[in-house]
Amino acid sequence: MSAAPSQGRVGDPLYLDCDTGIDDALALAQLVAARADLVGVGSVSGNLAAAGGARNTLDLLAMLGRADVPVAVGAHDPLVGSFRGGAPFVHGENGIGGVRLPRAGEPVAGSAAELLVRLAREHAGSLRVLAVGPLTNLALALRLEPDLPSLVQDVVVMGGAALAPGNISAVAEANIGNDPEAAAVVLDADWPVTVVGLDVTMRARFEDEHRRALAAADGAVPRALAAMLEVYFEYYTPILGRPSCALHDPLAAAVATGQVVPTLAPVVPLEVDSTDGPGRGQTIADLRSRFVGHPAQPGARHRVVLDVPDGFGDVLLASLLTLP
Ligand code: BDR
Ligand code: CA
Repeated sequence: MSAAPSQGRVGDPLYLDCDTGIDDALALAQLVAARADLVGVGSVSGNLAAAGGARNTLDLLAMLGRADVPVAVGAHDPLVGSFRGGAPFVHGENGIGGVRLPRAGEPVAGSAAELLVRLAREHAGSLRVLAVGPLTNLALALRLEPDLPSLVQDVVVMGGAALAPGNISAVAEANIGNDPEAAAVVLDADWPVTVVGLDVTMRARFEDEHRRALAAADGAVPRALAAMLEVYFEYYTPILGRPSCALHDPLAAAVATGQVVPTLAPVVPLEVDSTDGPGRGQTIADLRSRFVGHPAQPGARHRVVLDVPDGFGDVLLASLLTLP
């Protein structure tokens, strides 16, 4: 059985898997602001097709002064079925709210799964993985290298909902629901996983004042992020009841780097529903051991984040305002 998931920190080599995506773009910028040792990025279809996500990632990394980070295009289709077109109604047609960044760089040869396996071998035992898109690339990497869990220090996933409602169905969160088969493979693998789901990410918000502060910044990056956020706010404002947005991927990144330390994160058994019924894509966390006196659950391996300190929007803003 794998060791308990480690606490977040910035010093270790980090592989990011993402579907860039407006909140993915915020997370990427935040990782650079936090001086995370980003050694590679893979894209996956989710918010948009994997190739477009890689384009956005490359362009943003160049603006962030990190054009040195290798970016690989990952899986276009989920393990079962085909990519269904993403979420242009949330993230805009190009995934970053229609904002046109200066085009910079090209993806490296090979797939994201191959890049992840190569980096895991190069940084055996120390590589950390942060996944903020569907888990297809991670599942494919496990197929390529069955010993991957022993090479990777830990995995932090933005995905799922333990007690909160879903966001693409009554129970499914998008990153899990867009490839439940891959999520099941990744959660079943013997590596320490921390899951940062809708329980906490829907409560982590940027308000209009945060967006306006980014728009008024000197740096080109904060201003580009503020422009992207206009589209993201349009989607979230009616849902949240005021001009604001949820900070899914940045919160997961902050947990991975230790910028945010969860205040409630039990280690419990966690399964994904990959059946074809109404529960498809649900993450089922067995939280019974939270009752005093309930026997510990066998198979508890996943750290499920259920609470974080208030005020993450302020923390993220301060971080992003340091960017060029
Ligand atoms: C997740 O789905 C995507 O739309 C976001 O980028 C985030 O990773 C939230 O459910
Ligand atoms: Ca994402």
